[in-house]
Amino acid sequence: MLHYEITEDLITGVEFIDDQHRELFKRLNQLLNAADRRSSIKEMQGFILFVRKYIEEHLSAEENLMRKHAYPEAEQHILEHGVFRTNYQLIIEAFNEEQITVEQLIESLQTEVGNWFVNHIKKTDQSTMRWLKDKV
Ligand SMILES: [Fe+2]
Ligand SMILES: [Fe+2]
Repeated sequence: MLHYEITEDLITGVEFIDDQHRELFKRLNQLLNAADRRSSIKEMQGFILFVRKYIEEHLSAEENLMRKHAYPEAEQHILEHGVFRTNYQLIIEAFNEEQITVEQLIESLQTEVGNWFVNHIKKTDQSTMRWLKDKV
């Protein structure tokens, strides 16, 4: 089972954003573990919402920060978040409507959520936070 953690190469330099990334991965790991041990649908749905709540909190926090400081590439960054939000929603719906199995859910959570975050942090969050670091 893949386990996500904020390693040195994923640090953005803005402490509260790094803390949020840690919390996000912690929740995602809990969801993956719940899926791995084949928890009940009800329990799984609880974890899915628990992750989604924090995803929304985190993405909004970044977006507010970018807007507040008029980050020049905010639009592109926010667009990436938008695509991700839609994807997460689609995964949840597919699971809730029993269109995918728990195995497929785990696979999607790894490739489309966990790996997406790793890549997004490395590519987009790090360059954004490099720009914002001295301003926050
Ligand atoms: Fe982020
Ligand atoms: Fe981001």
